[in-house]
Amino acid sequence: MYTDKKITIAIDGYSSCGKSTLAKALAKRLGYIFIDSGAMYRGVALYCMRHQLILDGIPLTDQIETALSKIKLSFIYNASTEKHDLYLNDENVEELIRMPDVASNVSPIATIKCVREKLVAEQQKMGEFGGIVMDGRDIGSVVFPNAELKLFVTASPEIRAERRLKELTQKGIPATFKDVLANLKERDLIDSTRIESPLIQTKDALFIDTSNLTPEGQLKLSLKFVNQVLENCKDKTNC
Ligand code: DC
Repeated sequence: MYTDKKITIAIDGYSSCGKSTLAKALAKRLGYIFIDSGAMYRGVALYCMRHQLILDGIPLTDQIETALSKIKLSFIYNASTEKHDLYLNDENVEELIRMPDVASNVSPIATIKCVREKLVAEQQKMGEFGGIVMDGRDIGSVVFPNAELKLFVTASPEIRAERRLKELTQKGIPATFKDVLANLKERDLIDSTRIESPLIQTKDALFIDTSNLTPEGQLKLSLKFVNQVLENCKDKTNC
């Protein structure tokens, strides 16, 4: 493999399709930074929930805009999980942001323009030198439109709900398949129909359906794509 070049890898897709697992594994294999951009939206949602900035599921956009300067998000490496944990104003909130109540509130928060502008700017800064794998909904379309490799990952809603339920059960968080599936479908709808940076598969993104692929299979396929990009880069100065 041609390894001198550090490329940018953008992974987009629906909730719980396995994109974070794939992004994390790819980053580990390549020695790149991994950023779960969804965690940042979840961090903002948690802050808004704690400060009563969401009323009956509706975000109070003006107040949220004013509060944005008080929200500091950072990722700090956790050696035991080999992952970066999200910190909200210096508090480790990695566990809290995965809770169902945050999952229920995050999609409306992610529709807000000023929230997206703040987080996109921070994400672009994290990736300014390449050597990054970032997953989310708008990574290939907005955050890194010039990424050398873009992957669009999906799986059937039922398979995604089963995977999510398994994760929650393993963590001891009570949930039912029906509720998880409903939440997932609702988030899919909001994420793909919102006005601000909806989830789309860009023309230059490669499609991966993970329904019948193991995590190892997904990694193998993605590494093949990475190698192809790196091979193509070899003789190009603009790559
Ligand atoms: O990937 P996730 O489920 O942790 O994402 C949480 C929410 O944030 C989800 O509703 C989609 C939204 N999101 C987004 O709009 N843009 C991103 N780049 C990442 C996540």
